Amino acid sequence: MLMLGATAVGALSVASGAQAADGKEVQMLHWWTSGGEAAALSVVKQALAKQGYSWKDVPVAGGGGGAAMTTLKAMVAAGNPPTASQILGYYALDYADAGKLADITPLAKTGDWAKVIPTALQKFTTVDGKWGAVPVNIHSVNWIWINKATMEKIGGAEPKNFDEFVALLDKAKKAGVVPLALGGQPWQEATMFDSIVASTGGVDFYKKAFIDLDESALKSGTMKKSFDNLAKLRDYVDPNYTGRDWNLATAMVIKGDALAQVMGDWAKGEFAAAHKEAGKDFLCYRFPGTDGSVLYNTDMFAFFQVSGDRQAAQTALAETTMSPEVQIGFNIIKGSAPARMDISDASFDTCGKKAIADIKAANAKGTFLGSLAQNYAQPPAVATAYYDVVTKFVHGQIKSSDEAVTQLVAAINSAK
Ligand code: GAL
Repeated sequence: MLMLGATAVGALSVASGAQAADGKEVQMLHWWTSGGEAAALSVVKQALAKQGYSWKDVPVAGGGGGAAMTTLKAMVAAGNPPTASQILGYYALDYADAGKLADITPLAKTGDWAKVIPTALQKFTTVDGKWGAVPVNIHSVNWIWINKATMEKIGGAEPKNFDEFVALLDKAKKAGVVPLALGGQPWQEATMFDSIVASTGGVDFYKKAFIDLDESALKSGTMKKSFDNLAKLRDYVDPNYTGRDWNLATAMVIKGDALAQVMGDWAKGEFAAAHKEAGKDFLCYRFPGTDGSVLYNTDMFAFFQVSGDRQAAQTALAETTMSPEVQIGFNIIKGSAPARMDISDASFDTCGKKAIADIKAANAKGTFLGSLAQNYAQPPAVATAYYDVVTKFVHGQIKSSDEAVTQLVAAINSAK
């Protein structure tokens, strides 16, 4: 037999040492690259560091997660999945159906997660009774964010319906202020359109059209009116909106360069990161005409099937994410509400308190509905078809509301 030289022995121990280190590493894919998002994620990172886990960040910029989902797909296809990935709704279901997710059901049972997470969300964390993902928050898209000083300067008041919103934007325009800060990217425009549809047709109409994909609703006069309303809002954006990132649009409101933004409550994370206070520096209202409804999206961490030595890190991440302390610490910074329903709202600001109360009320009366733009109403192919029609309309490639409705019906029919 050959004797191993000192160098070979050294190399071997380095290799096994490296493996042990890998087992203590959490590799996390996400699209949280804005100031508020990154600050919130640090809460999870730090909680894991306390347990001896290191963090390997895999950030893929791009709000809404489209680019991140492409990267994730490639990593999974190459047999190299991350420990976990941020994921939205139907994307998680696709991986679960394909048998790619780990089974963390024992953890869910020990933690009694089924009792504290809204049933609507469990449709996405769980397939055939098996848990493969955990929700870190509940966001919703039907909000508007307003610079308070600017609001006072123009003498504006909370708009209670769509027409009042338009009147408010008009007041800002006359006062020489950019009324609406918008990022002209497909996912942002579609996210805004979710709210417009719920406001124009009411929440039952939103449900019929986007959750049930009822063709009579999709091609109705109400959908046409929703596009008319989208065109009205488009009149109030500044000329440089095309391609603007969502957090830069939020920054315009923070700095008083614009009056308002229509955006999910991740926008609040940017206000918080800029040390702005709810009620004092900025105002949050439900998108006019949608109060009482919550068009939700929840950020989940999906756990992929990984080798045995990486599973302890997954368990640690799942348990840490579901811990009440992390659900509080993370969501205060992120702008979202905790995904757990058993958490006190005491340490949240007024917008956070409203988000928490709205979710409970909407959940109880059946107005807690998935956002189509955020992949909680339909599978990705349908959501992508929706983005496409909405963005073409906003940017003038589709010229009329009638044509937009026709194209929406056709695009959804071929995608579903
Ligand atoms: C959403 C996500 C939010 C926020 C936003 C912008 O899809 O759910 O957490 O990050 O994108 O990046």
